[in-house]
Amino acid sequence: MQEQMPRRTFVKTAGVLATAPMLGAAGASAPAPEFVGSTVAAPARRRLGTLEVSSIGIGVQNMSRRYETTVPSRPEMHRIIRAAFDRGVTFFDAAEAYGPHEVERILGEGVAPLRNRITIATKFGWNIDQETGRRLPGLNSKPAHVKRVVDGMLTRLRTDRIDLLYQHRVDPEVPIEDVAGAIGELKAQGKVLHWGLCEMGLSTLRRAHATQPVSAVQSEYSMLWRGPEEQVLAVCEELGIGFVPWSPLGVGFLSGAIDEATRFAQGDIRGIESRFAPENLPHNLQLVALCRRWGQRKQAAPAQIALAWLMAQKPWIVPIPGTTQMAHMVENTGASDVRFTESELAELNAVVRAIEVRGQRLPDAVLAFSGVEAPLKR
Ligand SMILES: NC(=O)c1ccc[n+]([C@@H]2O[C@H](COP(=O)([O-])OP(=O)(O)OC[C@H]3O[C@@H](n4cnc5c(N)ncnc54)[C@H](OP(=O)(O)O)[C@@H]3O)[C@@H](O)[C@H]2O)c1
Repeated sequence: MQEQMPRRTFVKTAGVLATAPMLGAAGASAPAPEFVGSTVAAPARRRLGTLEVSSIGIGVQNMSRRYETTVPSRPEMHRIIRAAFDRGVTFFDAAEAYGPHEVERILGEGVAPLRNRITIATKFGWNIDQETGRRLPGLNSKPAHVKRVVDGMLTRLRTDRIDLLYQHRVDPEVPIEDVAGAIGELKAQGKVLHWGLCEMGLSTLRRAHATQPVSAVQSEYSMLWRGPEEQVLAVCEELGIGFVPWSPLGVGFLSGAIDEATRFAQGDIRGIESRFAPENLPHNLQLVALCRRWGQRKQAAPAQIALAWLMAQKPWIVPIPGTTQMAHMVENTGASDVRFTESELAELNAVVRAIEVRGQRLPDAVLAFSGVEAPLKR
């Protein structure tokens, strides 16, 4: 079901990764050699529109603050980023809103030694004060603001270009043609190479693509939330746009990290998602049991089954599991070794689709930002 895994050639210098000096905030800006590691079987490459990336990426959203509300060690986040690269992961997913701003800084520091070999994706669109990094109410995709945000991103990410820039949520006050126009100018300046949209309405996606070709859509998709199967995936296929599922592990749920006794810390968004409410957890845990059963069958971890299932749906789907733990990164990356035959996939699909997930994926106030159509240009 998945494409053949070519062996990416890295300079064979076993142990370099472990012994390389960690580059802190100051050190990372100095010219550094390209990172090297041992020769490994790496995830195959996939295409998102005209952009080629590793078939699994990594989401770095929680590298400044975990869902559980704890703050991870910054040097360890740099080590995870570089170790992911050493395992063939070249697709790193951030956003201005994560932190805000702080996650882009952590990613910029982490990838500084390997910048030219990786793909940085980040997102604009929430209304964030550019001086203070403070989050203000609502959204802001006004063209002048987007251009200012991108300049800040380039500084934080320590780079001269953003490989893939998404609109994080559709701004109901700004025609998408105006946003696409700003992206066109940023592309002409070489500051942005590709663009995409998240959680947008379908007409907005079509209008955006008609104005400035879109490389990728990023919306939630996993065994726990299969909404994109209704329409979004078909439109992506029709238009030749790649798809990047966010929360591909169901915000950790499909890995088996959550059980019916789990209760969430104050400030952990999962505590206000009714799919994780005590009355719905026992039912929804059928999906975890399914991942465990298939894990036994395929000699894989439940999280690997959840990711391999996503990648098996379409060859232009590239999940970005988020983690702040080295062992989890290694496990998640290994999902590209899990293959399903056609009959296995049909069997697994049938069981997944027979399980009706109970509860909402997000609270109403957050869901209101999804599926929004941008106003028409007058
Ligand atoms: N466009 C959007 O609106 C949007 C929204 C949300 C997320 N995103 C992007 O999507 C990325 C991934 O989504 P996500 O982080 O929300 O959800 P996810 O990838 O489904 O799950 C992440 C959670 O699972 C845990 N985890 C990861 N691998 C694990 C493993 N192998 N075993 C056990 N637990 C594991 C992580 O904790 P540990 O840190 O402890 O591993 C974390 O709590 C984000 O980093 C972000 O870049 C985008």
